[in-house]
Amino acid sequence: MTSFIPGFNNTLNHKAQFYLELAEECTSLLAGQRNLITNTANVSSLVYHRLLETPTREGKPVNWVGFYLSDSKKPGTLTLGPFQGKPACTAIAMGKGVCGTAAQEQRTVVVADVHEFPGHIACDSASKSEIVVPLQTSDGKVHGVFDIDASVLDAFDDYDRMGLEAIVKMVGEACDFDM
Ligand code: SME
Repeated sequence: MTSFIPGFNNTLNHKAQFYLELAEECTSLLAGQRNLITNTANVSSLVYHRLLETPTREGKPVNWVGFYLSDSKKPGTLTLGPFQGKPACTAIAMGKGVCGTAAQEQRTVVVADVHEFPGHIACDSASKSEIVVPLQTSDGKVHGVFDIDASVLDAFDDYDRMGLEAIVKMVGEACDFDM
């Protein structure tokens, strides 16, 4: 079978298998719809519920999953988009916090202990570790980030990073960003 996720071919690892199935579900969810809010809302919901349900993440529950998005009326700021979890801060400056850092540096940031990350922005006191993946189009332009928090330390590994990067890439390809 052809893998949706580079690096996951021919592996029997349960976590890789979980992300391959999640990526397939995302493909179906995004099919025939290009609205940014619609797609980021549905992907937030799918990822939140699947990450909570899967036995491959037992003991490492997520407590917040969602997007911060660029807003043409507020350059240099990421604005809260669709999410699952408790209410969160509504605006994050580029370069600030984990989200602003991932967006500015155009790379995934994995934080094993949020209290050790200089400038971490605490929205939910339950969050202890975090992964943030930039949302980009194929031209490299950053349109926001996908942020996932967990209520335990060190909840995200390389399988999570590769799996979530593949899902965010799909969102970047599936949406129109001219809203
Ligand atoms: N912790 C993030 C802020 C967003 S909340 O986690 C939902 C940060 O430092 O950018």
